[in-house]
Amino acid sequence: MQKYRTIVADPPWRYGKWGKASQNSIFANSPHNVDIALPYPSMSLAEIAALPIPDLADVDCELYVWTTQKYLEHTFPLIHGWGFKVCETLTWCKEPRGTGQGGLFTPTTEFIVHGRKGKMPLKKRIDTTWWKVARPNVHSRKPESFQDIIEQVSDAPRLEMFARRFRLGWHSWGNEVESHVEIPLRHLTPLALDGGDSAALQALSTPEVLSTLQGESTPAHRK
Ligand SMILES: C[S@@+](CC[C@H](N)C(=O)[O-])C[C@H]1O[C@@H](n2cnc3c(N)ncnc32)[C@H](O)[C@@H]1O
Repeated sequence: MQKYRTIVADPPWRYGKWGKASQNSIFANSPHNVDIALPYPSMSLAEIAALPIPDLADVDCELYVWTTQKYLEHTFPLIHGWGFKVCETLTWCKEPRGTGQGGLFTPTTEFIVHGRKGKMPLKKRIDTTWWKVARPNVHSRKPESFQDIIEQVSDAPRLEMFARRFRLGWHSWGNEVESHVEIPLRHLTPLALDGGDSAALQALSTPEVLSTLQGESTPAHRK
């Protein structure tokens, strides 16, 4: 399997259906005021934990994982489980748009958790960890400017996992692009701690990852 010095992953975190928009929401009286599913298949935490990122990463590698309010707490143990240390959390600040999922506060931020293994040369230092960028007009599409920033600081060869378009100088992989690489996935049941997947998952997960998977059956906002 080819090794990469930079890996960006935007996993299809599982949400189920969106709740109904509140009366204060701009979607309150719109056709969006219904339960809708994600427009693509999602993956359980166990399936995401089992991504072969350790096999794709070179000895020296930077990893960038897109995550959301709901999954931020789970992202750190996943990154540790793949053998990386966590360096920074980068934040995309967005204009409010409806209530979306969430509790007391409407999420208007998404995050990239940056991890590193080995040593990487310091190519350039960026003087912030947050950016306010307009939302692209496609569900879950991330602003291209984040990839521009990553390219300035992180080395080739570079892989984008769960990509939906090609980018010059990168290998793309996902079920909505013609992938440059074949990445074998393990299909696990959502809470794979009993039944046949248990041993496999125990073998590939750290205690930290296993404890985050234990909480998987409970939606984070209901804990
Ligand atoms: C959050 S979206 C990625 C959005 C992308 N970064 C962008 O900015 O447009 C997750 C993507 O993962 C894809 N996906 C879901 N399950 C997958 C699987 N088992 N293998 C490959 N891709 C998958 C989805 O179809 C979707 O394109």
